[in-house]
Amino acid sequence: MLVQASSRPPASAHIVVLGNEKGGAGKSTLAMHVAVALLNLGQRVATVDLDLRQKSLTCYIENRRAWAKRSGLALILPEHHCVPRGTTQKLDENETIEFSGFVDILTMVEETHNFIVVDTAGSDNHLTRLAHSMANTLITPLNDSFVDFSVLGNVDPETYSVTGESHYARMVREARQQRRMADGALLDWVVVRNRVSSLESRNMQRIARSLGELSARLGFRVAEPLGDRVIFREFFPRGITALDKLDEKTLTARLALSHAMARKELMSLLATLKLPIDERAQQRAAARAEWNAVRGQPLDVCDVIGDETAPSQQSA
Ligand SMILES: Nc1ncnc2c1ncn2[C@@H]1O[C@H](COP(=O)(O)OP(=O)(O)OP(=O)(O)O)[C@@H](O)[C@H]1O
Ligand SMILES: [Mg+2]
Repeated sequence: MLVQASSRPPASAHIVVLGNEKGGAGKSTLAMHVAVALLNLGQRVATVDLDLRQKSLTCYIENRRAWAKRSGLALILPEHHCVPRGTTQKLDENETIEFSGFVDILTMVEETHNFIVVDTAGSDNHLTRLAHSMANTLITPLNDSFVDFSVLGNVDPETYSVTGESHYARMVREARQQRRMADGALLDWVVVRNRVSSLESRNMQRIARSLGELSARLGFRVAEPLGDRVIFREFFPRGITALDKLDEKTLTARLALSHAMARKELMSLLATLKLPIDERAQQRAAARAEWNAVRGQPLDVCDVIGDETAPSQQSA
């Protein structure tokens, strides 16, 4: 059973970009989780895949759609778009086609959605740069390794104190400047260490310290880390997330402690992001959830007398 979010046109959408030039940091995984978290809060969410080669987010969402149909589960879906790839013989023509494809998608969804969640490729390209310059919130997941850290900054090999900023950090700085010049808006940049081991190590402490130092220099905020949990790899074929109602039917396996921990960490990340949630939509979603929870139960007298607050079904 598929559920599409409700259709009230809000003000211009808040753009959340997942970015890091380093591949495999968790951008697509987090893009999906942020999108589902916002949908659960009743927000109208559009997603855009700018990784035209891998299309991991697109596959994740397609898997979700297929699993909802196959299992009969009510899995809420964002309105998803993947920028069409330029296929001419000329590189610059392809870039122009893809560039305007992205802008067309944004124009289409910006007035009808609360949030646009954009997943970018793990490389520096024209679309990645454009997305960064349009972002309101940039989330950069980072593997807990100095190899991954090196796209943001360099450290002294003896003291591990920061000696300078690196190429991805410079790209974000430029994007921020462009954004400020274009409309005066400020980009809120949040870096989150991902796939962090449960065993405390000297490397972890050094990364945390260097990141703290770099955050003051580059002007980003550091979120609580996300643990390395195998469930994130298992979710993909079914398109589910740690934020879905995970029962045995959803997983066809027992709910483990790691699901609860993953969910807690993701909720903490969401709180850190301080995204501009549309509260009326959130209240409607809460009322809807409450109503769905009791609709199978026999009616009380007061229900029959008339509860006009019961929300209408989103759709099935
Ligand atoms: N917290 C986590 N715990 C365990 N595995 C994770 C976690 N987050 C992501 N992964 C896994 O790490 C791998 C890379 O994640 P993902 O594809 O989301 O990264 P990415 O930054 O989008 O990569 P790319 O740059 O190639 O697009 C995937 O196998 C994913 O399942
Ligand atoms: Mg990806």
